[in-house]
Amino acid sequence: MKVAFYDTKPYDRIWFDPLLSEYGYQAKFFDYKLTADTAVLAKGCDAVCVFVNDEVDAAVIDALCSNGVGLIALRCSGYNNVDLAAARDKIRVVRVPRYSPDAVAEYAMALLLTVNRKTHRAYVRTRDNNFNINGLLGMDLAGKTAGVIGTGQIGSLFADICNGFKMRVLGYDIYPSDQFPYEYVSLQDLFARSDIISLHCPLTPQTRHIINADSIQQMKDHCFIINTSRGALIDTTALIEGLKSKKISGAGLDVYEEEGEYFFEDFSNDIVEDDELARLLGFPNVIVSSHQGFFTREAMQAIAIVTVENLHNYEQQTPLKNEIVYKQY
Ligand code: NAI
Repeated sequence: MKVAFYDTKPYDRIWFDPLLSEYGYQAKFFDYKLTADTAVLAKGCDAVCVFVNDEVDAAVIDALCSNGVGLIALRCSGYNNVDLAAARDKIRVVRVPRYSPDAVAEYAMALLLTVNRKTHRAYVRTRDNNFNINGLLGMDLAGKTAGVIGTGQIGSLFADICNGFKMRVLGYDIYPSDQFPYEYVSLQDLFARSDIISLHCPLTPQTRHIINADSIQQMKDHCFIINTSRGALIDTTALIEGLKSKKISGAGLDVYEEEGEYFFEDFSNDIVEDDELARLLGFPNVIVSSHQGFFTREAMQAIAIVTVENLHNYEQQTPLKNEIVYKQY
């Protein structure tokens, strides 16, 4: 079994190298993304392993197929970056459906605590011997209402964390679960009643820009928005307007609509040409992090184990329990 890993960083190899050698698999690690041009580098490989910002479109799929690749193994859970319709009957696609939902739920709360209590600004101030607390006023979370959009693995854990903070929890999901012990409401009600809104649904044609100018208008004044799911759930232009008008009190964003170009890379010696990203970074009440919600030891270990198991099942021609198949929405 030979596998080409795209968009890798040194920390990926820490977890994958020992497992790949245990299974006797050969791997090529590329630091660049999978594109129609770089697909040729997988020639001779049985599978490619890709991450959240590899754009696996129809051209890439055709290029992989013509180079003899039979499997796309996502080392993440979201799969909005793969054109499943184009992959159908040509190449198989597997993912890691669950690694550490706690990692992401805990991180969503970390973003909320930070934007609310402004610890990011306090850290910078005191390092500069500025012990003034002007402008760092927050609110108690206890007694406030958290609106959770998408009450699956991560959303339901986030709801439990909010409950632990003595918050009231409202949920919205197109497939409500009887395991979710909090109140389900319509999306409109969730917008109207929540003091903080956290996004935990996948990116689909239905959920793209679920946060937009109209939904922001329906929200309570001074609402906080947290997004650890996928950037395009939020219409960034509308969010910026909501922040400028102070309708939105703060945003914690681990994902960004156009993150593919910047996230996971070091641009500290460059000019950010994306004006909306630059605008977001300029708000004192916005935190942008670089898609790191998943990044814990436990999650990395689980991602490597399940990905290598997926590769092994493919090699052994046993059922691919983590296969993703095309579904028309
Ligand atoms: P999940 O599949 O367990 O839960 C997603 C929930 O969203 C399901 O209950 C589903 O019914 C619901 N949903 C689907 N369409 C919806 C719609 N139109 N409106 C409302 N709800 C809808 O997924 P999980 O594991 O909780 O992950 C959620 C998302 O978190 C993933 O799709 C991924 O984009 C993101 N993620 C982000 C990470 C990070 O590092 N920041 C790491 C892992 C996942």
